[in-house]
Amino acid sequence: MSHIHSPALEKTGYVVLDRHDQAADPAEWLDLAYVPWRSSGVTRFAPLASYSGEPECNGFWNHTPPRTDKDGVWVAEQATRAPTLVRRAQEAGANVGRCRVVELQPNTYADAIYNLHQDDNNRLNPDGTGWVVRGFYNLTDDPDSLLILREDRFDPNTEVRLPLPAGSRIIVDTQRFWHAVWHRGSAPRYALITSWTSGPELDAHLAAEHAQSDVASVPLDPALIEDAQRELHRRIEERRRAFEALGEVLEPTDPLWP
Ligand SMILES: [Fe+2]
Repeated sequence: MSHIHSPALEKTGYVVLDRHDQAADPAEWLDLAYVPWRSSGVTRFAPLASYSGEPECNGFWNHTPPRTDKDGVWVAEQATRAPTLVRRAQEAGANVGRCRVVELQPNTYADAIYNLHQDDNNRLNPDGTGWVVRGFYNLTDDPDSLLILREDRFDPNTEVRLPLPAGSRIIVDTQRFWHAVWHRGSAPRYALITSWTSGPELDAHLAAEHAQSDVASVPLDPALIEDAQRELHRRIEERRRAFEALGEVLEPTDPLWP
């Protein structure tokens, strides 16, 4: 037995859907309540669906009883402020786990590379059921910002860079890819992030929205990449030393490993 995966994501691990007409929607994300939640970079989150409908962001496995990232409960006071965003999360037709709006402050490419991480959406996910993937729907218009995906955290040759204009929709197996956003704007970036369960409903949605896996990666100056690689290793070493000074050894398997 293994989990049910979307055939559309099998080849590359991500797909890009047709762009949504974001300009036609109200800017509901500005009406939401944000809670501090440090993810990749300087972020806050507005939870729309959570473990039990409370306005918090914690993984469902960190609650009692723990469960995987499925069957999210809508946060009533948030959902009433953002009906369009809730509808967009639901229109995929798939089970929704965590659903929230991320607010990300501008950063650098080197920051993004340091922030690369894999999600843990499928912790406690029962074998034989749908694999949890994530949708990233860009709400603000950030055409110069990039979603960065790496199959191998330390290997830039495995990197794919996808632009984030308003209405861009990218579905990613975020447990397979190391990922982070390089946000080049001057104002915060807002995006709707939804955990969906793979299965026939999601497959039908991906097909209807013309999911493409053969999208071109945005080219980048090799010198910039090289600098960021150096900075990545420098920051990791700096962090390792900081822990060492406290008498703690930080292993790559440690949850606090940067
Ligand atoms: Fe993530």
